[in-house]
Amino acid sequence: MEQPREELRLGYDVDEIAIRFSNYFHLLRELVHLSCGWLALAPQFETKYALGDHLHDDARAISKIRRRLYELRHPSDYPGAPAEELSALLDRLAGAPTLAAYIELAYGEAKPALLRAFRIHLDHLDPVSDEPSLRLLTQLVERQARHVSELGPAGMAGGGVEDLGALPIHLKAEPRALRLMAPLVEPARDEFVEVTPEGDPFLARELYINDPDENHVPVEPEEQRHFFHALMDAELCAAELMARNSHENPEMPWDFHVDMARQTWDEMRHAKLHSLLMPKELGCRWGDYPVGFSYFRSVYARDLLGRLALFNSTSEQKAMWRHSHRRKTLVERGQKQIAQVFDYLLADEVPHVHNGARWGSYLCGGDEAAYKRKVRELREGLDETGAPSGEPRAA
Ligand SMILES: [Fe+2]
Ligand SMILES: [Fe+2]
Repeated sequence: MEQPREELRLGYDVDEIAIRFSNYFHLLRELVHLSCGWLALAPQFETKYALGDHLHDDARAISKIRRRLYELRHPSDYPGAPAEELSALLDRLAGAPTLAAYIELAYGEAKPALLRAFRIHLDHLDPVSDEPSLRLLTQLVERQARHVSELGPAGMAGGGVEDLGALPIHLKAEPRALRLMAPLVEPARDEFVEVTPEGDPFLARELYINDPDENHVPVEPEEQRHFFHALMDAELCAAELMARNSHENPEMPWDFHVDMARQTWDEMRHAKLHSLLMPKELGCRWGDYPVGFSYFRSVYARDLLGRLALFNSTSEQKAMWRHSHRRKTLVERGQKQIAQVFDYLLADEVPHVHNGARWGSYLCGGDEAAYKRKVRELREGLDETGAPSGEPRAA
């Protein structure tokens, strides 16, 4: 078989490639950090969903870019610090006063600049000697183009930096510090969703108890409507909590941020699943009942260790039993579609619970037994639904 003719091109030299990837790293790291901060403040479900999806894509991109830097600058993956022009863009992103201003800058200027730089890079690289970059950038171009088409302003041409990859990098400088947003007061919901102090009064505590004799599985249409509506809100709260865990703790190891990004996206997908299930199977929709934030507040008020212990290692850990119990009961009653939702939720919950043990132990100096003691201690203040006494729980 005749082979296609390939010509030697020899594009960028190794140092230029490493500089390009370092610039991509800095922009993506800032975007993940800030999108994690803004996600809870996005009222519109579709916008919140897109932010969660994109920040997970970008977190995975950063892991791959760091790996490429490690290969090029062996044995260091240190990306240095961004020079003045990129720092100015990052400062503007970090200083965006509103969600709308952030989205306009992130999706109207920063991501289009990144996309442009990826394309320039692809046009100039040597496809043989630098095939690892070719494969990586081909994947990243497709993702950034999707992000810009989903949240970017219509008819956007993008301005700003001509070729972001060619900007200088200060290799001897200190790492760039990430700016923290103000702590959350409460998450934002679509304007048609009523937020009340007590949430949906229809929900009975028996729905959330982990005792096989006392737990009540929602089987009637009316209780299923209320239950899945509250569950959708609980998924949003979970995504918002994980995103804030990442945003508010930038000093944690990079893998922590990847785990939080993944869980954020999982919880957003769960919320979307319920938003589709409600009109299709249950005859209700998002916004039909009130929601409340008292449980969210009680977890958010803790430090990272307390949040992991109470949310991942307690609430999600106990929800695993309830999901499997609900699934079994619904299968027995022939409600297969609804039972299958719990099957998916249960599968995703396993790594979420592991996130608690992994990073909780890390925060206890790698001592898993010390973390377990911390979890036990915090559980003592909880009622039989796994919520701090008096706080309603909805998962
Ligand atoms: Fe979930
Ligand atoms: Fe979860």
